[in-house]
Amino acid sequence: MRRKIVAGNWKMNKTFQEADELINEIIDGLDEANQKNVNVVICPPFTFLEMTTDYAQESDYAVGAQNVSSFDTGAYTGEVSARILHSMGVEYCIIGHSERRSHFKETDSELTQKAELLLKNDILPIFCCGELLPDRESGKHFDIVKQQLDKALFGLDPLDFAKIIIAYEPVWAIGTGKTASPEQAQEMHAFIRSLISEKYGKEIAKNTSILYGGSCNAENAKVLFSNPDVDGGLIGGACLKAADFLKIIDSF
Ligand code: 13P
Repeated sequence: MRRKIVAGNWKMNKTFQEADELINEIIDGLDEANQKNVNVVICPPFTFLEMTTDYAQESDYAVGAQNVSSFDTGAYTGEVSARILHSMGVEYCIIGHSERRSHFKETDSELTQKAELLLKNDILPIFCCGELLPDRESGKHFDIVKQQLDKALFGLDPLDFAKIIIAYEPVWAIGTGKTASPEQAQEMHAFIRSLISEKYGKEIAKNTSILYGGSCNAENAKVLFSNPDVDGGLIGGACLKAADFLKIIDSF
């Protein structure tokens, strides 16, 4: 079902003590806030997942991981499997973030494996896609996003695809303060929905949540979220301050 979602991607930020403080500030704010049926997802580093899922029992948010292994189980030193995440109460997982594609050379086929393993373990993938600045400047942004979806996700069967959440994150907007304009976001989100409709039909397309990410903050979230095809945000920098994250949640 199509849902409004605000997910905070903490990336590699906060110490254990700082994480504890931030989660508690968010919880205090969520208790007071009218969430307007917004699904709030907190995606801390792996090491804080246990604390975050523990606190989630007393509050109204879900927990997401920022990554998962493309292997199922066994001798993969340093990896964390979907099965492990599920056993810790993790309900969502970001895959295909541009930082992982660029720094860790993640491939489309690895992303397919990750999506399949997550779904097998009842975790909802938040699949990131988005173009680099030269792609946009040369007018290739639609082709790039189409390719990312085609290669990593469009081999999934319809029942599996129906559980995927898409996050459109233009790489030139991530951490730069240069947000996509509401028109650029709406145009790309509508394009993504049309691709899903062509591949999986209108019903699945209508029910897919498509989030925007890239310098989304407490000031611009309202206008971005007011677009018909923008179902929420995947927030980086602005989710590291409770007041900003709460204001974004309250932007619908
Ligand atoms: P910023 O909000 O810091 O631009 O990061 C967006 C992002 O990458 C979320 O996954």
